Amino acid sequence: MKKITVKDLREMKGSNHVISMLTAYDASMAHLLDQAGVDVLLVGDSLGMVVLGYDSTVPVTMEEMLHHAGAVSRGTERALVVGDMPFGSYQVSVEQAIANGTRFLKEAGCDCVKLEGGEEVCAAVRGLVRAGVPVMGHIGLTPQTAGQLGGFKVQGKDMEAARQLLADAKALEAVGAFALTLEAVPAPLAKIITQEVAVPIIGIGAGPDCDGQVLVVNDMLGLFEKFIPKFVKQYCHLAPDIKQGVQAYLQEIQEGSFPTEQHSFAAKEDFSGLLNQEKEEKKERE
Ligand code: KIV
Repeated sequence: MKKITVKDLREMKGSNHVISMLTAYDASMAHLLDQAGVDVLLVGDSLGMVVLGYDSTVPVTMEEMLHHAGAVSRGTERALVVGDMPFGSYQVSVEQAIANGTRFLKEAGCDCVKLEGGEEVCAAVRGLVRAGVPVMGHIGLTPQTAGQLGGFKVQGKDMEAARQLLADAKALEAVGAFALTLEAVPAPLAKIITQEVAVPIIGIGAGPDCDGQVLVVNDMLGLFEKFIPKFVKQYCHLAPDIKQGVQAYLQEIQEGSFPTEQHSFAAKEDFSGLLNQEKEEKKERE
């Protein structure tokens, strides 16, 4: 199985192949997604909300990201693994961005990193790329700064906001981002941005005309039930399946129908005399 590289991904733009990206947070899920043929595994900072139980992605730390990114890298053979830089890990200075970005490659085995923002993060992106860290940008709805954007809302709805998003996309391309995630923007705007920049645009809630599509795996498998964004399609309904399976287990251990002989180990000898033998040995010692 040939490993997908950043160069391969760039070459997918303009081909007939739609780039597939899903999030992953651990080795076993990464292995399943990789085997299924997903091109890109994003260790998203959505980790905070879907796995770690935070209310937003803001509290997620570098150590948490590296821990999970390492697991995903170990579970992956073919897909490109992207480590998502958490809030506060690249905003302080270009040096800070490079110091943290390189950790994703050195310590977690990622192939590249992703970070959120447009023109305001271009210095960090340029620094990372020059330091040898491939960067995927992320514009549109940027969950780390959702507060500033007025919540988890569709971005680029009017002409001025659309112009700014197009400028952000071009600026990120110019400083060396190899691809962009475009989140929650009107489909016609996503189509224009996809046509106007030379790097792959991977959409989430950005309509059908992007070069690729990404979803949070827990959303598309129906594992995360707290809220379901409009752009999510559930391809499985694992949450009710899991609850049903666990309830069956609880019932069976109470009624004694699990474990049966099938799930138990036989002995080599007959142990019925074991306790008598012990008692006799104790008596002899006394
Ligand atoms: O963190 C994440 O899962 C993401 C996706 C929503 C693209 O950034």
